[in-house]
Amino acid sequence: MQAVRDAVGDRIAIVAKMNMDDGVPGGFWLDEAIPVAQWLEADGTVDALEMTAGSSLLNPMYLFKGDVPLDEFAGVMPQPIKAGVKVIGHRLLKSYPYVDGYLLEDSRQVRAAVELPMILLGGITGREVMDTAMADGFGFVAMARALLREPDLVNRLQADPAGRSLCIHCNKCMPTNYTGTRCVLVDRRTTRSATWGKPEGYAPTSAEWDASHPAS
Ligand SMILES: Cc1cc2nc3c(=O)[nH]c(=O)nc-3n(C[C@H](O)[C@H](O)[C@H](O)COP(=O)(O)O)c2cc1C
Ligand code: SF4
Repeated sequence: MQAVRDAVGDRIAIVAKMNMDDGVPGGFWLDEAIPVAQWLEADGTVDALEMTAGSSLLNPMYLFKGDVPLDEFAGVMPQPIKAGVKVIGHRLLKSYPYVDGYLLEDSRQVRAAVELPMILLGGITGREVMDTAMADGFGFVAMARALLREPDLVNRLQADPAGRSLCIHCNKCMPTNYTGTRCVLVDRRTTRSATWGKPEGYAPTSAEWDASHPAS
């Protein structure tokens, strides 16, 4: 961590994204994650903590929750891995139900153990879970799929606090990492943000919104 701080000085904030539950037997869990978070705090080089979960190799869906994109994963693999994914992929890609803010309960336990600013991650899709995070002492929220689906979501939520992400947690974006990361529901030929080029806080009209978000 010190090497990173030495490299960036005080120009760039350093965020540690660390696991608190691997989701595999014998894996990392909160009982180890909390002391590690405290070590990072005592070390003094990190500006904020972002807690995550799952194991990219052993249990990737434990981080994402929601639908398992088995066919899409098989589709980007060469043979014979493709055939293997189809046959035994369901054992590696287990299914977990999606709920908004699904890392909140575990992240709260880390929040209670350190003073460092924290970033809540995992299923941040609208103002309700953002407000809960702020009320629980998180300084920030992080969004991945919600912004992949709608890069201008934050502006939309600013204009319409009752709105929520159009992401359906199908997770078909996961295997697009191999071919160009994208939301499969966004038509790259036609879709553009309804608020690009507009002043900050601009609220798109319904017609602009519909034109920039083709029906999925
Ligand atoms: C297509 C895709 C690629 C991702 N790539 C990375 C990555 O390279 N490194 C990483 O730490 N997390 C990666 N993630 C995980 C996200 O950073 C985030 O932890 C996860 O999607 C949960 O947040 P969300 O509910 O806002 O999507 C990726 C997620 C998606 C959907
Ligand atoms: S492909 Fe699009 S809708 Fe599906 S999970 Fe990814 S971002 Fe969300």
